[in-house]
Amino acid sequence: MEDIVNPQRYLERMSKPLQEKLKIAKYIPQAASTLLDVGCADGTITLALADMYPEMSFVGIDLNEDFINIARGRIGERKNVSFEHGYLRERLSNPERFDVVLFCSVLHEFFSYGEGISTIVKALSDAHETLNKGGVLILRDMILYDYADKSELWVEETKNKVIAKEEVTHLLTDFETIFGPTKTIKQLNHFLLKYMYADNWEREGGENYVPVSFEQYDQIFKLLGMQVLFQRSSTIPYLKEKWESDFGFSEAELESFRSTGIVVARK
Ligand SMILES: C[S@@+](CC[C@H](N)C(=O)[O-])C[C@H]1O[C@@H](n2cnc3c(N)ncnc32)[C@H](O)[C@@H]1O
Repeated sequence: MEDIVNPQRYLERMSKPLQEKLKIAKYIPQAASTLLDVGCADGTITLALADMYPEMSFVGIDLNEDFINIARGRIGERKNVSFEHGYLRERLSNPERFDVVLFCSVLHEFFSYGEGISTIVKALSDAHETLNKGGVLILRDMILYDYADKSELWVEETKNKVIAKEEVTHLLTDFETIFGPTKTIKQLNHFLLKYMYADNWEREGGENYVPVSFEQYDQIFKLLGMQVLFQRSSTIPYLKEKWESDFGFSEAELESFRSTGIVVARK
């Protein structure tokens, strides 16, 4: 995996929208007693959930050993949470199964630093195997619909507003070198999700933030025989405000772009 230039800053950025991310808690079934948090980083979400649900037990896993060490150091008096370093796949040899498996802001990284879509299919298959029957998989990430990859509606006009902002123009040029010309809603939306990370551009610039569409997730869950219980596409208010103030997008233009997808599927 590409080195994180400033891990502290990366972790701060991850944990900033904590309240926003914790909205996934409402999809934890009432009867659930165990949750596996895949890609838990420094454990910010895992620990917050462990405090919200003291009767449940939580395991967080992450590939980054330094993050896991930080997470372990934050456990304190809590008895219902532990952290492990490693791949989700390695967990399959452990007979423990979970009522909930959570992927929060991680699957786009699996895609970018793994082998693309096959890594996503493997991760969701591994999660399926790791779930108890009737258990739920909660997935939150940046997810767009397939139509956005084809539609050019208003893209020229909105892109011109982006280009007009001088400090962003060179980032768009860089972005286009990696991802090709920005012609569709999806491409412009993708750029809008990342231009604010110029300080970590070497890593963020090349990461594909929106590699898997809602329709592709649907296909994977169908193949796995999982029932989709919930699906939602939205924009966090902070980003809507930022796009509006940075580029002067109208309410109608803002409607084209999304930041967050949630999918909940039951085994
Ligand atoms: C963007 S952070 C998200 C952290 C946390 N879930 C949150 O939402 O705040 C992504 C995390 O996924 C981890 N990660 C990336 N690929 C992974 C993989 N294949 N297996 C486990 N963890 C992975 C990274 O080390 C990083 O800590």
